[in-house]
Amino acid sequence: MLRIVVLISGNGSNLQAIIDDIHDDEIDAQVVAVISNTKEAYGLTRAEQADIDAIVVDSKSTTTRDEYDQQLQQQIDKYKPDLIVLAGFMRILSDGFVNHYHGKLINIHPSLLPKYQGLNTHQRVLAAKDTHHGASVHFVIPELDAGPLILQTEVPIHADDTTETLARRVHQQEHIIYPLVIKWFSEGRIKMLENKTFKDGNELTPETAMLHLI
Ligand code: GAR
Repeated sequence: MLRIVVLISGNGSNLQAIIDDIHDDEIDAQVVAVISNTKEAYGLTRAEQADIDAIVVDSKSTTTRDEYDQQLQQQIDKYKPDLIVLAGFMRILSDGFVNHYHGKLINIHPSLLPKYQGLNTHQRVLAAKDTHHGASVHFVIPELDAGPLILQTEVPIHADDTTETLARRVHQQEHIIYPLVIKWFSEGRIKMLENKTFKDGNELTPETAMLHLI
């Protein structure tokens, strides 16, 4: 069974969507640990409620990024995971950490990557008067928010949208696409080779990585 460690920094609604789908037997996998860089993350409570080890590796107490990432890596490796899932983990990871988990580290980002890498995506999309926004699941590589796509989904932007209404719409889609990608991993259907994503042996393109939900 696929062993998953989920890294969080906050609310953990994506974590919850994954836990729920595993619980409902939609995904043959086990979340073996949830690790947060802050003890305030509500996702830790979600993990405890689901009887999952909930661990804080506090980023306030370490000095350098490398030192922190080594501590994090030690905690993760105790659980011998097959997949490390970043679900709102709001830290930049060092190259050494990312390379250690090559092909096993995935992230969800609230934009239609490669558009709007980085922070405050909903505000930036509204300011640019885009007509569409979305979410992307991708492999993590050392370059921030630039790894090969696994799955994306679009949402329309309405004239009266605020960052809150738009964030809510994007979140709803995230809760569909992240568990789906994890299901594919559990079935051995997704691989990264030479910085490209292959699904069922076929290289994904921007078109085939797009799931049309709306
Ligand atoms: C999600 O919207 C996720 O896409 C975003 O943080 C939120 C976490 O929500 N991630 C990033 O911005 C990473 N760059 P959650 O804690 O409720 O799952």
